[in-house]
Amino acid sequence: EDEATMVSRPPVVCVMGHVDHGKTSLLDAIRETRVTDREAGGITQHIGASVVSINNRDITFLDTPGHEAFTAMRMRGANSTDIAILVVAADDGVMPQTVEAINHARAAGVEIIVAINKIDKPSANIDKVKQELSEYELIPEDWGGSTVFCPVSAHTKEGIDNLLEMILLTADVLELKANPNRNARGLVIEAQLDKGRGAVATVLVQKGTLHVGDPVACGSSYGKVRAMVDDKGRRVKTATPSTPVEILGLNSVPVAGETFVACDSEKDAKSFAETYISEEKHKLVEETKSRMSLDDLF
Ligand code: GTP
Ligand code: NA
Ligand code: MG
Repeated sequence: EDEATMVSRPPVVCVMGHVDHGKTSLLDAIRETRVTDREAGGITQHIGASVVSINNRDITFLDTPGHEAFTAMRMRGANSTDIAILVVAADDGVMPQTVEAINHARAAGVEIIVAINKIDKPSANIDKVKQELSEYELIPEDWGGSTVFCPVSAHTKEGIDNLLEMILLTADVLELKANPNRNARGLVIEAQLDKGRGAVATVLVQKGTLHVGDPVACGSSYGKVRAMVDDKGRRVKTATPSTPVEILGLNSVPVAGETFVACDSEKDAKSFAETYISEEKHKLVEETKSRMSLDDLF
């Protein structure tokens, strides 16, 4: 895309790691919320998206589940992100989903920052965690490597400011940009059927600006954005790059992980969705798109 049309955008940061290593607690400490209190069995079962403002700079956080059953969600989280925060409990060390998270982050080509959590515990062993992660080529800077390690405690909040600073520094290096002046495009983070509101999709806008009233298509679903709700539950009229937003107005529930595109007309959105339905036709569209560089029109 033309460099002149690009504007800097907030980093999208995915929090990953083994079950109960404190991902949601860490986000609660950063946001000053109490999401963990409301989770059934203390287990995160979806991708939670939230925007935090630090020194007037926004960071979009995606919380992911650590339970082994949710591999697809972790993969989706890693694929939607710029930076992965790998949370490892200082008393527990590297566990199977820690390794899985490293692999997802690497496959998605995202920068990893390690947060060694629960350092308030008497049984915390920071050096042991560093040693274990070194075996996966995540070597701390003070050991001659290039990975940022941040010892933190979600309970005492020790180290949280440093972690946020490291996220912003990493984001600066990445020089994240997007064109806000085009039809929106992004990813469906999660979606469900709501009794009162119909199909509800949480989307992450990656390019362009999404507006209430925009015709949209995601996979075989399409419609016109009837309303948008931000991560704080407020009605909003627009969503710019790196913003997660719930959209209402789709004719069916899209599949999480799917790309969504805003279109110039409802007719375009409908035909995009109809085309998608047939695998054969879909392939043809992809070929046509790359041949004609229609990417920017969608
Ligand atoms: P899943 O989403 O289910 O994978 O778990 P999670 O990684 O989000 O962990 P969660 O935030 O649910 O925390 C798990 C347990 O660890 C809870 O009992 C927390 O209170 C506890 N915990 C989290 N952070 C800390 C910390 O910094 N210190 C101590 N002592 N306990 C913590
Ligand atoms: Na948990
Ligand atoms: Mg959690």
